[in-house]
Amino acid sequence: MQRPGALIAALTMVLAACSVIGGTEPAATVGTTREPTTRAPSSFGPTSAAPSTTAPEGTTGAGRLGFVGDPTAVGIGDDYFPTLGNPGYDVDHYTLDLVFDPVSVRLDGIATLTVTASDRLETFNLDFSGLTIDDVTVDDGAAAFEIVEEDVVITPPSPIAPGEEFTVEIEYGGRPQPASSAAVPFGVGWTTFDAQHYVVAEPDAAHTWFPSNDHPIDKATYTFRITVPSDVIAAANGVLTDQLTDLGSTTWVWEMAQPMASYLATVVIGNFAIVEDAAASAVAGIPIRHVLPTGTTIADWPGLERQGEMLAHLASLFGPYPFDTYGIAIVEGFGAALENQTLALFDRNVATSAFFEDVLVHEIAHQWFGNSVSPGRWQDIWLNEGFASYAEWLWIERERGRDEVEAGIAAERDQFADSGFPPVGSPPVFTLFNAAVYRVGAMTLHALRLTVGDDTFFEILRTYASDFAGASAVTADFVAVAEAVSGMQLQPLLDSWLADRELPQLP
Ligand code: ARG
Ligand code: ZN
Repeated sequence: MQRPGALIAALTMVLAACSVIGGTEPAATVGTTREPTTRAPSSFGPTSAAPSTTAPEGTTGAGRLGFVGDPTAVGIGDDYFPTLGNPGYDVDHYTLDLVFDPVSVRLDGIATLTVTASDRLETFNLDFSGLTIDDVTVDDGAAAFEIVEEDVVITPPSPIAPGEEFTVEIEYGGRPQPASSAAVPFGVGWTTFDAQHYVVAEPDAAHTWFPSNDHPIDKATYTFRITVPSDVIAAANGVLTDQLTDLGSTTWVWEMAQPMASYLATVVIGNFAIVEDAAASAVAGIPIRHVLPTGTTIADWPGLERQGEMLAHLASLFGPYPFDTYGIAIVEGFGAALENQTLALFDRNVATSAFFEDVLVHEIAHQWFGNSVSPGRWQDIWLNEGFASYAEWLWIERERGRDEVEAGIAAERDQFADSGFPPVGSPPVFTLFNAAVYRVGAMTLHALRLTVGDDTFFEILRTYASDFAGASAVTADFVAVAEAVSGMQLQPLLDSWLADRELPQLP
């Protein structure tokens, strides 16, 4: 076992997803030219003073955001990202008609949004930045628009009444580029690395490639129609429903039929092949398809063949898998992994690392926790990362037994005890994805499990996953489910793990 300090300094976003049992690898083998994955966590060595933060509403307290509010506000009220999202309406569906030229790296799009007003709207805002808008219509009538910071303010031809459904069509384009984020130390958004193009949008970059209500409380279904030269493929979230080739261009049509948070929308374009895994599909009970570098097959990525088993195991614990398909895309130049809905993104260095299996499990678990149930505010990111990290332990438990899990979690508890990380229920935004959010978040669930017993614990997870499927939840929602299912008062326990500066002892 390494010294805690050495361990923590070595943790990267990806290593955070790796258990100490599985062993750690030097960060250098994971980092790539584009994403300096060591930067954020390395500022949290045990000697560096932990930044202090006070959660505005208490850690497990309410903090639920709603759709009603001043429609001219620049944000929906998330303290961590004040300009994200917009009140006044609810987007039901996005159709993104995209034409992408890999040579000039130019994207031209028509975004058609089906929206329901929750307020009377004389104007309304969508999040949008980095590209140019040419034209906006609302219900086919010309609408005035103006870019104000990271919003496009749209004035429909006539005001929209509360409850009314309307259609917004936005023609836009430009050279999409990663943008800086308060939460991660590298650009996020549309990424080009050599001849590969893909989207890494978590947490706040969806609106840099399509106009959106860019907050996970406003989830919607999606249709992607992506036109690219026929010598490359274009993948996106969900199920491939059509593929039309005409004069050297191919239009790839993908449907995401369950609600999705904007940050999980993705596109992967380049020299890839869509590879179906029939054996894994049979085990998982849903089609498993991957987007692999051309010329490679499942056998070239050892560990990948276990994905069906992993998915089936997690479904046996968490309840039915929430979407119609699953798989991963393996790319270069990203440096980490990201749980994009039904099509998680993996850097090839992660896919060839010793902890590939841990990360595979982690990203599958996010399909329930993060994707089907999305964070109701970004402060509650442990609901994503703690849960997905706990799933890694659950897989280790199945593979190597409970004793190994108990010992491993106990060891990690001691490593994190004096590490100086801020409380997991309110990580400051600039360290939103810090290692403690993952590892102590997972420990929090283990403490809950030890307190309520296995049967009740998994009943809590299944109830939470099903009560909030397709929607979003805040920590208070999880606490409420845990208390209702167990009949026990659990807020003090969860608060002690999520809000106290001093890490509790495991029960
Ligand atoms: N949610 C990702 C995972 O745990 C980590 C993402 C960090 N990077 C980012 N661009 N948000 O797998
Ligand atoms: Zn994660």
